[in-house]
Amino acid sequence: MEFYDVIQERHSCRSFLEKEVENEKLRRILGAVLQAPSAGNLQAYRIYVVRSREAREGIARAALDQQFIAKAPIVLVFCADKSRSEMRYGQRGMELYALQDATIAAAYAQLAARAEGICSVWVGAFEPLEVSYQVNTESSEVPVAIVPLGYSEKKPEQTPRRPFGEVVKEV
Ligand SMILES: Cc1cc2nc3c(=O)[nH]c(=O)nc-3n(C[C@H](O)[C@H](O)[C@H](O)COP(=O)(O)O)c2cc1C
Repeated sequence: MEFYDVIQERHSCRSFLEKEVENEKLRRILGAVLQAPSAGNLQAYRIYVVRSREAREGIARAALDQQFIAKAPIVLVFCADKSRSEMRYGQRGMELYALQDATIAAAYAQLAARAEGICSVWVGAFEPLEVSYQVNTESSEVPVAIVPLGYSEKKPEQTPRRPFGEVVKEV
């Protein structure tokens, strides 16, 4: 798929078929994620790949009961590894870079998924401690984004955007 088509055709998906995501597709998606830029190339994040129904249901509950999460065959949990960035960059690494690294990684995952014909949605509304419990994070890791992946049950809706000139300002 052409790059700009990927961008145009990525829309949030909140209803998933039971169909599994092929392992080779998931592998390519995660491979693309690892190519994302990161502060000092530290890749201060960890990605948990959640397949078990029990854990997906737990994550859905931890995310304000957004049940579509449990319906996706794969749920990715992107965690910032604060210690990893702090070791080189101190407070700024801990408070900012690790979060940015994990955030960029999650954005790459959504685009790579789209290029593979897989739908996704970014879920940010969740209780971090409960999500940590579900995936058993290390103590320095903080969940920053949940990205369910799967085949869409229906064509995802297109959402509007603010006008270009309102968002972009030449100085
Ligand atoms: C930081 C962040 C948090 C979000 N949290 C949620 C969420 O908890 N639940 C949800 O259904 N969508 C969530 N979304 C998805 C947005 O609603 C969606 O990206 C936005 O409406 C634009 O639609 P589109 O993704 O189809 O372009 C979140 C997106 C971002 C970037």
